[in-house]
Amino acid sequence: MKKLMNTVAAAAMLLGTATMARAAENVEVLHWWTSGGEATALEVLKKDLESKGITWSDMPVSGGGGTEAMTVLRARVTAGNPPTAVQMLGFDITDWAKQGALGNLDEVAAKEKWDDVIPTALQKFSKYDGHWIAAPVNVHSTNWIWINKAALDKAGGKEPANWDELIALLDNFKAQGIIPIAHGGVPWEDATIFDAVVLSLGNDFYKSAFIDLDPAALGSDKMKEAFDRMTKLRTYVDDNFSGRDWNLASAMVIENKAGLQFMGDWAKGEFIKAGKVPGKDFVCMRFPGTQGSVTFNSDQFAMFKVSEAQLKPQLVMASAIESPTFQSAFNVVKGSAPARTDVPDTAFDDCGKKAIKDLAEANKAGTLFGSMAHGHANPAAVKNAIYDVVTREFNGDLTSEEAVKELVAAVAAAK
Ligand code: BGC
Repeated sequence: MKKLMNTVAAAAMLLGTATMARAAENVEVLHWWTSGGEATALEVLKKDLESKGITWSDMPVSGGGGTEAMTVLRARVTAGNPPTAVQMLGFDITDWAKQGALGNLDEVAAKEKWDDVIPTALQKFSKYDGHWIAAPVNVHSTNWIWINKAALDKAGGKEPANWDELIALLDNFKAQGIIPIAHGGVPWEDATIFDAVVLSLGNDFYKSAFIDLDPAALGSDKMKEAFDRMTKLRTYVDDNFSGRDWNLASAMVIENKAGLQFMGDWAKGEFIKAGKVPGKDFVCMRFPGTQGSVTFNSDQFAMFKVSEAQLKPQLVMASAIESPTFQSAFNVVKGSAPARTDVPDTAFDDCGKKAIKDLAEANKAGTLFGSMAHGHANPAAVKNAIYDVVTREFNGDLTSEEAVKELVAAVAAAK
């Protein structure tokens, strides 16, 4: 009996040690990649880490753009229990760094020479006070259109080169009996369209309004024109657009129910997941009037301060994310471009190749701007203030004139 008890105790001890060892090799990851395409991309990261002996505790918080995820995160940090790594955008990373909540990736960044290969536009958010605090996974951009190829062919096959041609195409889609614009009426999606509409009125205008928050640009006639364009686009969405998830809107284009979607290139992940081929089933193009310019956002894994035991898996995760092989494998599926400048575009489809090329060219030409809608132009308070006005105008609660005035006031109050 005593022998049996000893064996049980020994087994329990062993089990305990094994559990501890496993727990030490675990990362808990908070993210909002819950759509079909996003989940497939995330699987690439999970598998990669598993192959390195790191297990994954998943903390998904659905809600595109990450607003809901950021609320959950705050509750976790307030409770003194932050996850190991958190998907995060631009200024949110800086905000957490300012609060002293983030860890330090300098050791791995120096060893792997991240400074030399990660674009400076991303480093601005991956570093705080000269120290690496986050590992960038990708570069997305928001000024894209995803068009159903069959519907475009029926309309004559020409990609719209300017605003008037875009409107003519939308009218044609209406005449074809399909929903012209597949849209999910939630604030971040309205704001994603607004990114492109404002950019289509000029690079300088986008910069003055959203990067510099210049009251003259925010309150200008051009801004009224931007809202007028939103009013016009609103006439092409279906009656059920309100509250729809972005990936369900992508599905409408995929299933030939709608003509096009204005969305960041994570939408491509949905098309690919559905077995659709760029150039054959769908067309990707820049929002008319924004060719040569890019509004970007980069998903990064911000690394929180963790216990000594958790440091190793955290660094292994950061290193795995920056590996060029992973960067290619992941971003091919996700619809984004790599977060490093030295990853070959060979494995990418035509839209991916275009994304990589557009980013490099815009970066060189000084026409690469942080996305307002996706947290790369301003801190959350300003972003949310803009969201609010854009959504109210899009839903007919404000006229363009009122929206312009509200925008100036809301931004001034939030700054
Ligand atoms: C993120 C993407 C994500 C999209 C929709 C964006 O803010 O950068 O990675 O796919 O939101 O969820």
